[in-house]
Amino acid sequence: MIKLGIILGSTRPGRNGEQVAKWVYDIASRRSDADFELVDLLDYPLPHLDEPLPPSFGNYQNEHTKQWASKIASFDGFVIVTPEYNHGTSGVLKNAIDYLYAEWNNKAVGFVSYGAVGGARAAEHLRLVAGELGRRAPTGGAVAADRV
Ligand SMILES: Cc1cc2nc3c(=O)[nH]c(=O)nc-3n(C[C@H](O)[C@H](O)[C@H](O)COP(=O)(O)O)c2cc1C
Repeated sequence: MIKLGIILGSTRPGRNGEQVAKWVYDIASRRSDADFELVDLLDYPLPHLDEPLPPSFGNYQNEHTKQWASKIASFDGFVIVTPEYNHGTSGVLKNAIDYLYAEWNNKAVGFVSYGAVGGARAAEHLRLVAGELGRRAPTGGAVAADRV
């Protein structure tokens, strides 16, 4: 069975992202042709990137990186739930993405964005990032939610 990770990209106290990610998870879980798991970045507390070697080398030294890599490697694709902060995605999500490389490669990804005006710019930002990581971002696969 295909396994998809729904990544919650905000760790802010009082975050709206939790509601959005749970809504996505509830709808996705109605499908019987894939398994879904909610991945909360609060459960993977990563410092600012502290690996001495570039992630593309795949030679991770820190235990927190190995745990995060093992979780992301376990998925065939992702739905990234992103807030919009200053016309981009959140720092915590970008940092979590930057930690890894091969674990993201050649996997499908879709985006659900939200913010004061729908979070579309955060989804656009993530499309560029996903392109660098060799992920197959769908051209029309983003959902945006307004005024959260
Ligand atoms: C630091 C910061 C910057 C923000 N910048 C934008 C922005 O550029 N565009 C926008 O539509 N909303 C912006 N917002 C509103 C957030 O998208 C909105 O508050 C959202 O709920 C944040 O997600 P969270 O509650 O899950 O952390 C910003 C919020 C914060 C905290």
